[in-house]
Amino acid sequence: MKTSLAVGSILLFNLALGSGDITNLFKVKRPVPTGPPRNVSEIYMSYFSQKLDHFHDDDTTMWNQRYFVSTENFDATNRNVVFLMLGGEEEIDSNWMMYGQWVVSSRKYGALLMYLEHRFYGQSQPLPDVSIESLRYLSSEQALGDATEFIKSMNQVYNLAPDAKWIVFGGSYSGALAAWLRLKQPDLVYGAVCSSGPLLAELDFSDYHQVVIDDLTASSEQCMTSLTTALTQVEDLLANPKQAEGLTSIFNLCSPIEGLERNDIRVSNFFRTLLTPFSNAAQYSGQVKISIDDLCGIMTYEAAGKEIQRLANVKALVDGMECVNYDYMSYVYALKDTVRKAGDVRQWFYQTCNEFGWFQTSSRADLQFGLGVPIGYYTQLCSDVFGEGYTEDAMKAVVDQTNLDYGGLGIENTASNVVYIYGSADPWHKVGITESDNPNITVLYVEGMSHCQDMTEATRPETAQLTAAKKETDRMIGVWLGYN
Ligand SMILES: *[C@@H]1O[C@H](CO)[C@@H](O)[C@H](O)[C@H]1NC(C)=O
Ligand SMILES: *[C@@H]1O[C@H](CO)[C@@H](O)[C@H](O)[C@H]1NC(C)=O
Repeated sequence: MKTSLAVGSILLFNLALGSGDITNLFKVKRPVPTGPPRNVSEIYMSYFSQKLDHFHDDDTTMWNQRYFVSTENFDATNRNVVFLMLGGEEEIDSNWMMYGQWVVSSRKYGALLMYLEHRFYGQSQPLPDVSIESLRYLSSEQALGDATEFIKSMNQVYNLAPDAKWIVFGGSYSGALAAWLRLKQPDLVYGAVCSSGPLLAELDFSDYHQVVIDDLTASSEQCMTSLTTALTQVEDLLANPKQAEGLTSIFNLCSPIEGLERNDIRVSNFFRTLLTPFSNAAQYSGQVKISIDDLCGIMTYEAAGKEIQRLANVKALVDGMECVNYDYMSYVYALKDTVRKAGDVRQWFYQTCNEFGWFQTSSRADLQFGLGVPIGYYTQLCSDVFGEGYTEDAMKAVVDQTNLDYGGLGIENTASNVVYIYGSADPWHKVGITESDNPNITVLYVEGMSHCQDMTEATRPETAQLTAAKKETDRMIGVWLGYN
């Protein structure tokens, strides 16, 4: 699996929810880089006294925001280059201070490395709990306010040169934050590298599954056909309640599914759990153990029986022997838990319900993934977890507002000095910039690359195009810093 950290949190939820895969509701987490053991004595962790509310001056509440620093490669004479990695929807990991492409670049350019944790994630908790009342202070705009205050302060703390240049980095959600920070604070931030950043908020992100389908089809046509057939067989069993009992045993469900209406939200939850193994293998292809080819091998292995049985075999490979929990209410209870650091999942779910959407539906007849997970499943979940008012219309309005605030894909023409990198295998490229004529930005669209794969150093053979994209990113950073 991707990292010990991520596996840890998935196991945690498995314990609480049978084999329910709640962490997979929101697939934007990025793998943490690893490498041979290194002994770096110049890395340390610290806390920054941060404002709670950047938009109301009369609120003077402060809290402690965590960050990592590495002076390992810092040019302490000139003191004029800083690389800032923005934290996203997860705890920051100190491995990023030792491994990764930005560390490679820091050696070349003498950069001070800083990694700032996002408010409400990891140990950067502004308030004692994550109740709805507290989460009013969780938003991308507040996070950008945090980064702004941090940069201003660190210019003093590290006695940086007056012309010091800050380059911000991020991957996935934090990649978008990096581009947005350059947009909003061009005087403080000189350039940004946005890796796989979702820039366009979208309530119903059905395109996500289009890319998964493309990845499966690229592995083998027969694979996608088998999966479509399997999903149809599931529908058929559901439509024949007498046989739905077969469904319960084929998929080793924790509770019987027979007798449930087709439009019952528990059935949507069940369908979603069927799709996640494929989404994960697509999004992280080349970075996780179980590949699309592995799953396709199972789906096309005729000797294993009918397609539905092969799909059950895929689930069993991913989930192990435990029964499959599709009980909707246990998801709701887990997401309603207001104790801090409950896997950070509640916080990210809050941001998707209140700012971004990005809900990975299967609700389009023209997609071969069936109609198992409609947008109503997600809007209902937002309401059940955070209270009434999360209607489809209301949520469309907040998503539109987010796109107004940051410009959506139009950021292409409003922020200069940004490198945007996306991979064709990664579903998130559908809400990013994959081509542009604007000479003020650099767009790298890498064939076969998965989510944020450009951020890590190669630990296994990689394509020439990916290597070239990493080199080009490094070169552009050099251009911003005045090298040629
Ligand atoms: C790590 O490096 C420091 C300073 O160079 C040294 O004192 C220490 O013994 C090293 N530790 C290990 C485990 O190699
Ligand atoms: C590129 O940047 C220059 C200098 O800031 C600006 O004049 C020009 O309009 C920009 N071009 C585009 C296409 O945004």
